[in-house]
Amino acid sequence: MALSAEGCWITDTEGRRYLDACGGAIVNNVGHGRREVIDAIAAQMARVDYVHAHSFTTEAVERYAARLAPLVPVSDARVFPVSGGSEAIETALKLARAYHLANGEPERDVVISRRGSYHGNTLGALDASGRESLRRGYEPWLGRFSQTDPVNEYRCTNPEHPADCGAWHVRHLEEAIESVGSGRVAAFIAEPIGGATLGATVPPAGYWRGVAEVCRRYGILLIADEVMTGFGRTGRWFGLEHFEVAADVLVSAKGASSGYWPLGLCVASGSVVEIAAPMFGHGYTYSHHPGGAAAGHAVLDIIESEDLVSRAAASGAHLLAGLGERLGSSPFVGDIRGAGLLVAVEFVAERESRTPFPRVERVAERVRAELIRRGVIGYLVTGCADGIDGDALAFGPPLTITLAELDLVSDALAEAIGSVLGFSSN
Ligand SMILES: Cc1ncc(COP(=O)(O)O)c(C=O)c1O
Repeated sequence: MALSAEGCWITDTEGRRYLDACGGAIVNNVGHGRREVIDAIAAQMARVDYVHAHSFTTEAVERYAARLAPLVPVSDARVFPVSGGSEAIETALKLARAYHLANGEPERDVVISRRGSYHGNTLGALDASGRESLRRGYEPWLGRFSQTDPVNEYRCTNPEHPADCGAWHVRHLEEAIESVGSGRVAAFIAEPIGGATLGATVPPAGYWRGVAEVCRRYGILLIADEVMTGFGRTGRWFGLEHFEVAADVLVSAKGASSGYWPLGLCVASGSVVEIAAPMFGHGYTYSHHPGGAAAGHAVLDIIESEDLVSRAAASGAHLLAGLGERLGSSPFVGDIRGAGLLVAVEFVAERESRTPFPRVERVAERVRAELIRRGVIGYLVTGCADGIDGDALAFGPPLTITLAELDLVSDALAEAIGSVLGFSSN
């Protein structure tokens, strides 16, 4: 049981300390125990605790939206705050539908996503998600949406790989659109850099540019799911910035409040919002909560004043190098990948052929358990090879983590792999 948390460390009720190398569920960007965030929430609660958006807006929400809008790669951005990532995804999907209805294209009702993606656990978000283990059992309620290839350079099926993989995936997206019927597609949704399902997969050059161009050409809204990649996580404010692309709708959560308040955000371009408005009846009891806005504002203060976006870029490069040094020659480490402080290590039974371990061996779970025994917490990624097999651990610590703490992660992981698989380069 967790008793207290400070910086990157969590102490349990038995007095053991753990380095939180995955910020919970890759949530905490500013570190634990930040008085500034706690005080900002308390001050807001004392001022206006709750009002519903049908009667009032608040200074906290307006101030937060005005500050956030210019940071997000969406033109003339409008912010719709909710209580988490899945709610924000549902909001984006409904907004896309409302946009096409209002635009006189009611036949556009299909969303295309990618296999190997994760967009949340509510039914709309789960339907967009390409993660078999979470969909299992709910199939009768799913299947309205359509899916295209996962984008995973380590396991790319492009016959010419690594040549022109970006263009190859874009062609597949176009084929998926044509097979649904181009006039039926409402939106394409994807994570700019793969997160929970594939583990820190960075797409190839040209991919996002090509996707944006195809969406524009077919009149399809581009929804970027930055729930995990937002707020500095990948060494840019938002993941899409690596690829110099803007979205029509961008969804974020996690790092936005760094876990201090349940906060999710659906951010859409002014032109989308203005067209969709007459058809967009939507909201939750806790949408536009002033507590979330106060937390988000205080988190932005910390990210800016401590320069955490560039720090994540530099620290991430250090972590990748450290992992490469310690694990690069292990026969059981197939890939070390990521951007900024979203990093993953994939384990394989045979490196040359990239053969994954059979899932029944639960390699990722066993390595994670050994890592925890050494006082370091990592994020479990399973099924990343083919939806069932595939073992990886992801790391996404608070962006405040020091280089010495990152070295502890690399050292502990090398030991944990050695202990489970019997060999490591250390
Ligand atoms: C990319 C992505 N989208 C959506 C979600 C769902 O967010 P939440 O768990 O806050 O509902 C997650 C959660 O991990 C995520 O990583």
